[in-house]
Amino acid sequence: MTLLARGRPLHRLLTEPLLSVFGLFVLSFSTAGHAQQEARSGEELYIDRLGCWGCHGRAGEGGDGPALRNTRLPLWKFVKQLRLPSETMPPFAHNLVSDADLAIVYDWLDGVETVETPPPVALTLEGPNQVTAEIEVELTVRTVAANLDTSLADPTTWRYRVTLLRRDNTPIAQATLEHRLAGRKEWLEFTTDERGQAVLGPEEGFLPADGSETETEKETTTRLRISSLQANRYALMVEAIGGNESDNPVVFGIGTGIFTVE
Ligand code: HEC
Repeated sequence: MTLLARGRPLHRLLTEPLLSVFGLFVLSFSTAGHAQQEARSGEELYIDRLGCWGCHGRAGEGGDGPALRNTRLPLWKFVKQLRLPSETMPPFAHNLVSDADLAIVYDWLDGVETVETPPPVALTLEGPNQVTAEIEVELTVRTVAANLDTSLADPTTWRYRVTLLRRDNTPIAQATLEHRLAGRKEWLEFTTDERGQAVLGPEEGFLPADGSETETEKETTTRLRISSLQANRYALMVEAIGGNESDNPVVFGIGTGIFTVE
């Protein structure tokens, strides 16, 4: 997530003065096309670039930090730990490592969840890192079907898993979130379950489930807002998922945002 707390567009501050109080998150989905140019293997990332091995062992067998090989953590929890560690581990910010690269590391460690790598869809959350009471997330969805394998190629079948956790990993249950698709007026409300999660779509996902999906590229902006959070630090993860069983999805894109409510 590139935080644009200060840089967030001035025009929006002018046209939406009320929202400017809270700021905006922007979540953009883009293809892995760019990322692929720099694609590195999980091992390269883990050993050479990020130095995870120093605390977690060369093969992820554990050290000062817990073992990561064959981790039972779902991808979203793995990535959350990197962005907003629960205890003493140093955080790894978005400018050091992308969410897509973290998915590659996870896959190399043989995590329990099935993850498409490199993730064919990149989700980027951008927004303020500090808010007073309400945050608003804006999603921009951009995909290139050519990068998707056939079972994932139709975005109208995608689902989106949204997870909201506190720094200490407490799930935020019964949180009310709203999202609004590009070109739509109405906000659609959804509520997180006891795991702090909600799965949207395909009908009311972050891409409109209509129109021709044969285009090679698609860009959609979805805004997401959350209200009534208590003062704390939070991690918000949004994943694009496929697969038939909701218990055993294939993750093909993940984006994370970290913010503080004061
Ligand atoms: C300076 C030591 C250190 C480094 C470097 C480090 N970690 Fe950690 N890691 C820890 C410690 C200590 C914990 C225990 C929880 C905590 O302190 O937040 C941990 C916990 C974790 C967990 C949670 C594991 C679980 O089962 O709960 C994951 C996932 C993780 N680290 C991944 C990574 C990855 C991937 C990297 C490299 C990008 C990395 N860590 C780099 C020290 C480190």
